[in-house]
Amino acid sequence: MSSAIINGKEIGQEIRKEVAVRVDALKQQGVTPGLAVILVGDNPASKTYVANKQKSCEAIGMFSELIKLPEDTTQESLLEQIRDLNTREDIHGILVQLPLPKQIDEDAVIATISPEKDVDGFSPISVGKMMLGQETYLPCTPFGVMKLLEHAGIDVAGKHAVIVGRSHIVGKPMGQLLLQKDATVTYTHSKTKDLVSFTKQADIIIAAIGKAKFITEEHVKPGAVVIDVGINRDENNKLCGDVDFAAVDGIASHITPVPGGVGPMTITMLLENTVLSAERKLEQDKAVKNL
Ligand code: GUN
Repeated sequence: MSSAIINGKEIGQEIRKEVAVRVDALKQQGVTPGLAVILVGDNPASKTYVANKQKSCEAIGMFSELIKLPEDTTQESLLEQIRDLNTREDIHGILVQLPLPKQIDEDAVIATISPEKDVDGFSPISVGKMMLGQETYLPCTPFGVMKLLEHAGIDVAGKHAVIVGRSHIVGKPMGQLLLQKDATVTYTHSKTKDLVSFTKQADIIIAAIGKAKFITEEHVKPGAVVIDVGINRDENNKLCGDVDFAAVDGIASHITPVPGGVGPMTITMLLENTVLSAERKLEQDKAVKNL
């Protein structure tokens, strides 16, 4: 029997409809949620991601502004742009598309984004708050994975989740979000010895290692849930994930496809975070007015 497909495109669309309702409610109160996206240089993948983010914003009635900077942009001029966006009333979320050209210190850039507008959830303050379970913005991809699991009716409490990959953007925060929902979490990565011995014990595998079709039937316990965060090209230049879908299909109880799994959820959660930022700002402004 085939594994059940967790359809991120459909779940993402459902959530976007709910977010669009919140956009309308904000607009009725005179606020249009605004996202600024900064793109430095000409990385073709980044250009595609950014175009998709903008399109998705506009589709639900949000405002989005693209700031395109040349490849040789200096760190100081990028920081200037961010400081300006930090002060703008019409911008509720700021996203600097990564990776950045090598003359720019990514950490310094991320730390300059105001935590109130850090809708990527990448800044040290956002990450610290997430670790402590405090109100913040959750990083979009792991947040999207949690939503997928929730919508698929998978309760993670007490389950053993094995994360494959330890990036700041996906692996590390993913483990934290699962831990907060009472999963038992194991982190594995490219230097892990005998990876199969870990993944084979997993009730939930999160594949986020960035290698095409890396997770195969030998890694997966029958009945495990397999979440594929990868976006790669296979030998025929076809889009594929970190999981060998055909090999794992029928062994896993549930699996996310690529494309159409985690990918659409990342943008969905970016929209959600930006709307949340606009809602929080409006509440704060109202509270100040009533003082
Ligand atoms: N590059 C790849 N994924 C992301 C993301 O989620 N946010 C940003 N800012 N850059 C990325």
